[in-house]
Amino acid sequence: MENRTYHIVTFGCQMNVHESEKLAGIMRELGYEVARTEEEADVILFNTCCIRENAEDRARGNIGALKKLKQKNKDLIIAVGGCMTQQPGAAEKLKKMFPFIDIIFGTHNLENFKELFLRRIAAKRSVVSVDEKEGEIREGTPKFRTSYPNAWVNIMYGCNNFCTYCIVPYVRGRERSRKAEDIVAECRRLIRDGYKEITLLGQNVNSYGNDGNEGVTFAQLLRQIASIEGKFRIRFMTSHPKDLSRDVAYAVRDSEKICKAVHLPIQSGSDRILRLMNRRYTREDYLEKLAFLREIVPGCAVTSDIMVGFPSETEKDFLETCELVRKAKFLNAFTFVYSPRKGTKAAEMDEQIPEETAKDRIMRLIEIQNEVSREISESYLGKVREVLCEGYDREKSMCYGRDDSGKMIYFKADESLIGEFTDVEVEKIAGISLLGKSAKRGK
Ligand code: SAH
Ligand code: SF4
Ligand code: F3S
Repeated sequence: MENRTYHIVTFGCQMNVHESEKLAGIMRELGYEVARTEEEADVILFNTCCIRENAEDRARGNIGALKKLKQKNKDLIIAVGGCMTQQPGAAEKLKKMFPFIDIIFGTHNLENFKELFLRRIAAKRSVVSVDEKEGEIREGTPKFRTSYPNAWVNIMYGCNNFCTYCIVPYVRGRERSRKAEDIVAECRRLIRDGYKEITLLGQNVNSYGNDGNEGVTFAQLLRQIASIEGKFRIRFMTSHPKDLSRDVAYAVRDSEKICKAVHLPIQSGSDRILRLMNRRYTREDYLEKLAFLREIVPGCAVTSDIMVGFPSETEKDFLETCELVRKAKFLNAFTFVYSPRKGTKAAEMDEQIPEETAKDRIMRLIEIQNEVSREISESYLGKVREVLCEGYDREKSMCYGRDDSGKMIYFKADESLIGEFTDVEVEKIAGISLLGKSAKRGK
């Protein structure tokens, strides 16, 4: 008999990418293998996101498109989970919209997927099960990793910040930190298995341990991981500016293994908007954090998330964001148009901004950031950077990977270099990436 197969479609952030690796681990434990194509799969899983309306639209579009496949293949099992289904009432709505879905689960019971799946198989009836509250952290869920040479590692789950625009605290529950010893043990295993880069994940890694976890702070955790033997890199995301401490900066400075790169979302450059967003820092606070970070960690790359069109944002507020973006010199920034999320405070605020205004603002903002990014890219020209080769682009016939700052660099080399550190001399700028050639150190 042919092996049965699964196919996973992931939306949203790195956290979800990693959670899909857990779903894949569970499917493999059940004896399933990766399908070559979606059409061939016996089980199709959706791991959804609801951070913005368009993430939900895309998920619904993808699920809806499966109706035909399901009609053709009655044995096909379709499962939908993640942040979108975790919203109150969302599972029922989804089931009504797409009655052919077999399993609906949420973020809080994702690690229970094996039980839900077996229930569906045994009962031949659909299973809708979304836990309202987060449970205890579960260790030991199998993972089928797909991003070698990088490995994602959760250090904490949930978020306590309740930024007024954001749905995450509602669909991911309160902050829970994993035990430092469990995290370090996982990292140690990964390095032993040959992974070369570890990316620590949390909605706000700087508040790691604040939920009463043995008193280990994020800075201490970084140091513990960095003390593992071997050549590898450590990255982490995301840092909430209000909780970024000098201790974290010192830890970054003190270890060669910790990348000199911090993702520090600013969201807005206007104090009035930052207050309405409940971000709990001012633009001055932010600039001060940037200053100490760059002072302690010379050359530290900073990336950011910026939003336009938050309720009541005026042209003046927006111009303050533009001005800050020019000043902050982000290596890169993700820019978003504010999307009202049901259940959040901002969705109830008066003065929602017309779409055209928001679109116009985001275009202007992108232009400014592009200029800044270009200027920073120029500073790489002629330099030799150590790159961790992550993959091979068949179309370009080139390898690619990032340097310590997180900049993507393409260079001519053999596929066998994947997973290796190598020196590359930067020759050209290509969009937000760079082009280079293999180089000898010290050039
Ligand atoms: N925990 C991270 C952010 C996670 S969400 C932090 O606090 O920085 C990733 C990004 O999506 C956010 O930084 C924000 O810029 C954006 N985002 C969140 N909610 C949004 C919304 N309702 N509309 C548009 N963008 C949003
Ligand atoms: Fe959302 Fe704010 Fe939490 Fe980030 S810190 S996940 S933006 S509520
Ligand atoms: Fe991530 Fe989207 Fe959920 S950004 S935490 S998958 S809402």
